[in-house]
Amino acid sequence: MTDMALGTSIKACVFDAYGTLFDVHSAVAKHKQRLGKRGHEVSAMWRTKQLEYTWLRSLMGDYTDFWQITSDALEYALDSHDIDDKILHDDLMQAYLNLRAYSEVPVVLETLKNAGYKTAILSNGEPSMLASAVSGADIDQWIDESLSVDVLKIFKPDPRVYQLVTDHFQVKPEEVVFQSSNAWDAAGAAYFGFKVLWVNRFDQRAERLPGKPDYEAKNLNKLLDILDLTKKSGA
Ligand code: LAC
Repeated sequence: MTDMALGTSIKACVFDAYGTLFDVHSAVAKHKQRLGKRGHEVSAMWRTKQLEYTWLRSLMGDYTDFWQITSDALEYALDSHDIDDKILHDDLMQAYLNLRAYSEVPVVLETLKNAGYKTAILSNGEPSMLASAVSGADIDQWIDESLSVDVLKIFKPDPRVYQLVTDHFQVKPEEVVFQSSNAWDAAGAAYFGFKVLWVNRFDQRAERLPGKPDYEAKNLNKLLDILDLTKKSGA
C-alpha cells in the first residue's frame, strides 16, 4: 500500500454503490421490531446470498437483474429463518430502494465535485434501483453518472464491467480511482488496472485474489487525502 497523493493523474472518481455509499443493513434496521433477534442474521444472509447469486448467474450464463436477485436472496434468507411473511418481504424490498448513505458520503462527494473531478457509481444495481438510492440519499447533485452492469447482462467482477467506466469517460484505467467496501470488487477493479481504495468498513482481512488495492481505509474520507483535498475541504 502506498500513501503518496495521486494528484492530477486522476480524471474520474468512481464508487461501488451497495456497502460503499449505501448501508445495505439499513433496510433490515428499518424493520427491526418485526424481525427481533434474527435481524442481524437475516440481513447478513440476505447480502451474502445476493452476492452469491450474482456470481452464480454470471457463471451459469443466466442473467437476471439485481432487483430480482435481491428479491430471490431475501426470500432465501427469510425461508432459512422459517419466516413466511410476504408483506415483510415486500416492505424490506421497498426499504432497499431507500437505503441510508454512510455519514461521510455527502461531504466527500461535494468536495470532489468542487475540486472539479468527474464522479460516477459503478454498480451491479439495476438502473432504477440506483436512481432511487441516489435520490433517496439526496446525493444526485454530486454524481455525474450511474453506470450499471445491466447493459452488459453480467455482474462484477467481470472485467467488461470495469471497462464501462473507461469507455464512458474515455480515460485509461490508471486515470480512475475506484472505491469499494467489497474486497472482492476492490480486487477485480485493481486487476483491471484502476487505482483502488478498499473501504474496509467491516475490518475484514485482505482477499487472496489477483488485484491488490492501492489504499485501504475505514471510510471514504481517505479519498480526500489521496487526492490531496483534505486541507481545502477542512475535512
Ligand atoms: C454493487 C455491489 C457489489 O453495488 O455492492 O455493485
